Amino acid sequence: MDGYPISRLEHSLQAATRAWRDGADDDWIVAALLHDIGDGLAPQNHDRMAAEIIRPFVREEVTWVIEHHGAFQMIYYAHHLDGWNPNERDQYCDHPYFQSAVNFCERWDQNCFDPDYINQPLAFFADFLERVFSRKAYAPENLYNKGN
Ligand SMILES: [Fe+2]
Ligand SMILES: [Fe+2]
Repeated sequence: MDGYPISRLEHSLQAATRAWRDGADDDWIVAALLHDIGDGLAPQNHDRMAAEIIRPFVREEVTWVIEHHGAFQMIYYAHHLDGWNPNERDQYCDHPYFQSAVNFCERWDQNCFDPDYINQPLAFFADFLERVFSRKAYAPENLYNKGN
């Protein structure tokens, strides 16, 4: 549990369910489901670990957001952590995906620790995972599609 009110799996299912209910596309739903997958093994750089897993299959915007979500989460977490900067995300303020990362953390991460939230089960997301990971790796039409 690591001090969180729900498990990592529940947090991830909640994130993916919120993304799905918001009408997000496959890239975002899979990214939301996997965004913390490396947290047990690499807590300090779990964002980059998760990004490398999805990088060949989703558009670059989504990979970038997952890769940097740790910095963007600091606005919500830094006060719990000694010496961390809540405005760490500001170093990316001119990046074209800055707002996308702000939105991801606001809608599908920092609010996904609600023990009363009714999420979809893991099996619900099997088809989403299948579709994304059966894509041709690094295919330009996947990496540079416009998405939603
Ligand atoms: Fe995270
Ligand atoms: Fe998270």
